[in-house]
Amino acid sequence: MLSTPAAKSAITERSERRPFILGIGGTPRERSSTELALRVSLAAAAANGAGTMLLGGRDLLLPLYQPGPEHQTPQSRRLVDALRRCDGLVIASPSYHGAMSGLIKNALDYTEEVRGAGRTYLDGIAVGLIACAGGSQGAGQTLAALRGVAHALRGWPTPFGAAICTTPMLFDADGACLDLKTAAQLELVGRQVLSFARMNMAAGDAAGR
Ligand SMILES: Cc1cc2nc3c(=O)[nH]c(=O)nc-3n(C[C@H](O)[C@H](O)[C@H](O)COP(=O)(O)O)c2cc1C
Repeated sequence: MLSTPAAKSAITERSERRPFILGIGGTPRERSSTELALRVSLAAAAANGAGTMLLGGRDLLLPLYQPGPEHQTPQSRRLVDALRRCDGLVIASPSYHGAMSGLIKNALDYTEEVRGAGRTYLDGIAVGLIACAGGSQGAGQTLAALRGVAHALRGWPTPFGAAICTTPMLFDADGACLDLKTAAQLELVGRQVLSFARMNMAAGDAAGR
């Protein structure tokens, strides 16, 4: 029964938990534009009340995924733990030859370890997607590929995904996005992930999960 004072206060406590939004993406390159784009998106989620964590290109330099706990490293365990705990996820990939980079696909393959007790893959998780490319064809193809993977992992891709064309001048020295339209798209991804995460958390509270 949800109508008792104790039950009501338990629900209030859970609903007031700050959504945790994880961002994974980028390339290991210094000032990776993909990672900078991801930062803009996460900053928008944080500005609207989320707790955020970013695992960038260098954090994702993981061994090629092999199933099983015996193949995990401290770095891959960190990723898997964050994937298990997050209420929402933003994935940002460069377009490499018309698809997501191998680094990002490999990181996503580690969701295979997010099973068993608790969540299976990205079940019930809002997933925001960002594709960065030199040209619009690559950006569009990569966004579609990311969306396909998010669906395969039972995630809920947000309605808006950002397919952006990067240039060396897109971000300033502090990482601010200098093109207002692109910045607005990246921020929208972060905000949509947060609002879907809040909806999912409220639905979970109402269902007593
Ligand atoms: C190996 C490689 C393959 C690429 N393939 C494509 C491509 O197929 N289409 C495209 O538009 N851009 C392509 N690019 C450009 C990158 O997608 C673009 O520069 C991206 O913003 C790089 O991300 P970063 O700044 O985070 O390293 C490629 C770049 C590299 C290094």
